[in-house]
Parts: sequence; C-alpha cells; structure tokens
Amino acid sequence: MRERNDARSDPDRPRLDAEERRRSDAVVARLRAFADPDGFVPFDRYMELALYAEGLGVYGRERSPLGTEGDFYTAVHVHPLFGETVAERIRTVRRVLGRDRPFRIVELGPGDGTLAATVLGALSSAPEGTHGLDYLLVERSSRLGRTALEKVESAGRAAGVPVRLSSAAGADGPVRGVVLANEVLDAQPARRLRWNGTVWTELGVRVVDGRVVPAESDRVPPVPSPALDPPPRPGTVLEVSPAAEALVREVADHLVEGEFIAIDYGAEESELVAGHPLGTLAAVHRHRTVDPYEAPGVADLSVFVNFTRVRAAARRAGLEEIAYCSQAEALGFWGLPALVDAAVRAAPSAEAEVRVRLSVKSLLFGFERFRVLELAARPTAEALRRVT
Ligand SMILES: C[S@@+](CC[C@H](N)C(=O)[O-])C[C@H]1O[C@@H](n2cnc3c(N)ncnc32)[C@H](O)[C@@H]1O
Repeated sequence: MRERNDARSDPDRPRLDAEERRRSDAVVARLRAFADPDGFVPFDRYMELALYAEGLGVYGRERSPLGTEGDFYTAVHVHPLFGETVAERIRTVRRVLGRDRPFRIVELGPGDGTLAATVLGALSSAPEGTHGLDYLLVERSSRLGRTALEKVESAGRAAGVPVRLSSAAGADGPVRGVVLANEVLDAQPARRLRWNGTVWTELGVRVVDGRVVPAESDRVPPVPSPALDPPPRPGTVLEVSPAAEALVREVADHLVEGEFIAIDYGAEESELVAGHPLGTLAAVHRHRTVDPYEAPGVADLSVFVNFTRVRAAARRAGLEEIAYCSQAEALGFWGLPALVDAAVRAAPSAEAEVRVRLSVKSLLFGFERFRVLELAARPTAEALRRVT
C-alpha cells in the first residue's frame, strides 16, 4: 500500500544516497529524448520512464521497491490471510468451471511473488488437490520476474503445480481460469488532465536546468474528455490511464472462461473529481511521501485507478461485471471470516492471536480506498454470478 496523502502541499524531499542520485540524474537525462519538440513531456511518458526504464526505473532497478526494506508494501505482505482468501475465490471459480478440467492462474505484476506463493500454499492443502492447475507469472520487470519465479517455483513444486514466467496474459494460449492483478492497474502510466474552466488541458513535465518541473500544455489531450455535469471547479485535475484500459482489453482478448480479479485503490470518475480535486498522484520513497518530480526512477509513482474508464473498457471488450465493491466486502464474500477463525484457533500463543487480529484489522480498514473488480468471460458469467 502506497502511503498516500494527495492533499499535502509539502511532501518531504527524498533523501537519496549517491547511487540513487546518479540513477535519478540518468533518468532526467533520458527524459529529454521523451520530450515533444516544444520540450513538454506528457505525464504518462514521464511515469513510463521513471517506473520502467530497464536498469533505471523503480521496477527496472536492482533494489526491489516492495516490502519493508523497499519503498512500500501491499496487502499481500500484511498477512497470508489475504492470499489465502484470494485462493478461496480461485477454488470457487475452479469448482464452477469443473475440477476435472485444466485450470490456469495468470498473475499480472506478481512483484516479488508473495501472493503467488501464498495462493499455491493454500491450494495445495485444499481437499480437492491441484491436478490440472498451472500458474503463470506475467511480470513486466525482468528483474522482479526472476525474483518472483525463484520464490514461487518451490511453492509450485510442493503444490505439484507447474509455475512459469510468461510475457503476456495470453502468450501461452487462451486462459481458462483466473487472472489476478493486485496493485497493477495503479502502476500503469497515466495522463493527467486539468480543467481550466473552458477545456481540459494536459499536465506533464519539463526539464529546466537539469531538474524535472511540473508543466502544463494548452493542447487538447488525446483521450476522451470527462463528461461531468455540472463541470468541475477550474483547476480540477483528473488522471486517466489508457495503459490500464489496454491491459484490461488484453486480458479480455484471452480469457475464454473464468474471471479477471483486479484489486486496487481507485474510485469512479465523479468521486475522483469531487474527492481529489488536485488529483491523486503520489510518490513514495522508503515509505515516505515525497515530491513526485524530485527523484524520478527512485520514488515510486502511482495514481488512483479511474474505475469508470476501466469498467467501461471491460464492458466494451466483452467482459461481464460480477462485482465492484470494497476490498473488505470482497474478502468477506470470499471467505475471510472462516479463515480468521481457523487462524485464531491455530495461533500458538495469545501474542500470535493478537498479531492475526491486528493484521485482519489492517486488511479490512487500512485499505479503505481499495476496490475489487471481478470480471467474467461471458460464457461463464451467469454461473459465476451465482457464487458471488
Ligand atoms: C505495485 S507493484 C504490485 C506487486 C504485487 N502485485 C503486490 O501486490 O505486491 C506493481 C507490479 O506490476 C508490474 N507491472 C506493471 N505493469 C505491468 C504489466 N503491464 N504487465 C505485467 N506486470 C506489470 C510491476 O513491474 C510491479 O511488479
């Protein structure tokens, strides 16, 4: 979970070591090539380079941004109960699709592999067994992909489930099963739009005296304008991510039976405009909120998912919505309460029991801005809706 406080006007200055300073300077130097002839760089291009440049970006560099030693953690690191509850939903989908048929789990953006390892551990101890399962890790960062595979391969062997790295959701053929994406849509490069009272304009950056500074272009952004009635107050900023929408379309192209489960912080477009008029861009470095322009390639950047656009893209691509709800509600539907009872009963000490209860509190209340979007391939939508 990225520490988020988009209303803060005084984020910390990131404290960089020499290696981080060198990398950040290298990103700034590369940024010049990403600029339009007038020097303007749309925000999504800046975010693309800062996060994904091979060897330089937050996800391309040697030090992992995930976990307590990194920059942020996600729900998968809070407690295995998160992944175990996701595994319960996977078991339900598998039961609906038929346990005697092959079933694939594709995880987009597995990061360090924590969720995959937990899910495989939970599936291996389920009474129906793991026959016919396989697990594909689709990780954009080659370094994190290797880390994830190393961690997950042994869990796969113990569970009797083949685990492979794959280059895209459908690269190994059509998917009959479940596609998972935890905190992946918010990490897609986003465009930032600003309402000037008459039209939406585009925000981005410029390089001035070797530093990245926020900038605005008066050209009309090449994405559909928000249809908001009444129009927002002048100065309102909204983020949209064509890349996140493209990822959903890609999953829709390959998911032939089963579900796509996307878990992320975000909101509807109208809620974003009303609740976050300055936008939702956040940067974190070593668990502190920092200035998003000070340390490209070092500080993680993310924006809230614009679920209005993502849900519309899913509908247009032929996926059917099974659920759109809070993370707490989804975990509840999928079976968290029974798993918590079992974990509490199995706790070896009063201290361990308190740790379980505190983690559950964090999963339910610490992720209050998180939404779960469950989308089904059309042939299986009706049956899956009945088990929601
Ligand atoms: C915020 S991290 C979340 C990691 C993990 N899912 C978790 O919950 O801890 C986002 C991850 O998505 C990966 N990623 C981003 N875009 C991707 C894409 N188009 N395909 C596959 N992985 C992607 C990043 O490299 C990174 O590992």
